[in-house]
Amino acid sequence: MTTLEAILTEATTYFAAVKSAPELEQTKAKYFGKSGSLTEQLNSLASMSPEEKKVAGAAINLAKARVESLISEARSRISHAELEAKLNAESIDVTQPGRMAGIGGLHPVTRALERIEILFATMGFAIADGPEIETDYHCFTALNTPPNHPARSMQDTFYIADSEHLLRPHTSPVQIRYMEEHEPPLRIICPGRVFRCDHDATHSPMFHQIEGLWIDEGISLADLKGTLTQFFRAFFERDDMQIRFRPSFFPFVEPGVEVDMEWENKGGKIKWLEIGGAGVVHPQVLRNGGIDPEKFSGFAFGMGLDRLAMLKYGVNDLRLFFENDVKFLSQFR
Ligand code: FA5
Repeated sequence: MTTLEAILTEATTYFAAVKSAPELEQTKAKYFGKSGSLTEQLNSLASMSPEEKKVAGAAINLAKARVESLISEARSRISHAELEAKLNAESIDVTQPGRMAGIGGLHPVTRALERIEILFATMGFAIADGPEIETDYHCFTALNTPPNHPARSMQDTFYIADSEHLLRPHTSPVQIRYMEEHEPPLRIICPGRVFRCDHDATHSPMFHQIEGLWIDEGISLADLKGTLTQFFRAFFERDDMQIRFRPSFFPFVEPGVEVDMEWENKGGKIKWLEIGGAGVVHPQVLRNGGIDPEKFSGFAFGMGLDRLAMLKYGVNDLRLFFENDVKFLSQFR
């Protein structure tokens, strides 16, 4: 049997090294368990004479009290260490910046569109809509562009395998759809996504157009020029805004024009940027839409919304709008 002195030396080392509550329980059992060394010492008293018992009993009790105090020291050391570890893990650095939920904003193209819709609404235009997957008839045939007409290949259309449907390359089919369902006078704009096989700093394969249509008695090219000039000057908030109407050909208008605006390119040079096509609606297109060209006339236009947003916000590459780089987009919040 180990001596009390040896027991105390060993216990002092063991309890000083204990690091957790379960380890403490295991070490405690070494002394007070069923076959623990102090339990063995106490059991040995049974075979002693009363004189021996008195002396040995007192020594064992002293040793027992010493081990109990080692246990309570270890217990308080462990609970302090656990509390400290917990506080460190849960500590809050009050000097860190707060984690705010990011504030979103409207895409610059959406912002430009909202502004355009308001400006045309003040001129009495309603907003119309049409499908992005269109029929060949509404995109071309009804717009005076029959099969084999060379203008069909002018627009780099994405055709769909069934050849009856295609991704609309312009918003002009909405003119026909609207005329089919409404009687003149008509005054609408139709913003929407369009698709073409095109890709450079001013062309994207998916972009947005705004179609405009005004049909009534006696509407002429002069009304078109007045409406668009007023719109551009209000949109860019510049009364001296220079707009150019250049004769051009579109099968669905006669006469037809391209509308250009002054623009500063990447190198800082002032250039003209084509913003849209327009013209007086062709009599055959009115007939295809169920409208009598002897009684009614009107104008139509189709503008590039993304190009308007480029000019409005000073962006010199249209593709930036669709790359969805948050650093670029957050400048417009
Ligand atoms: C048309 O699409 C005609 N439908 C416009 C029209 C409507 C004429 C009504 C007459 C009457 P155009 O192909 O020129 O026309 O396109 C119109 C505008 O869309 C262009 O001036 C340009 O601003 C924009 N645009 C054309 N292609 C792209 C492209 N790939 N990416 C961005 N914008 C484009």
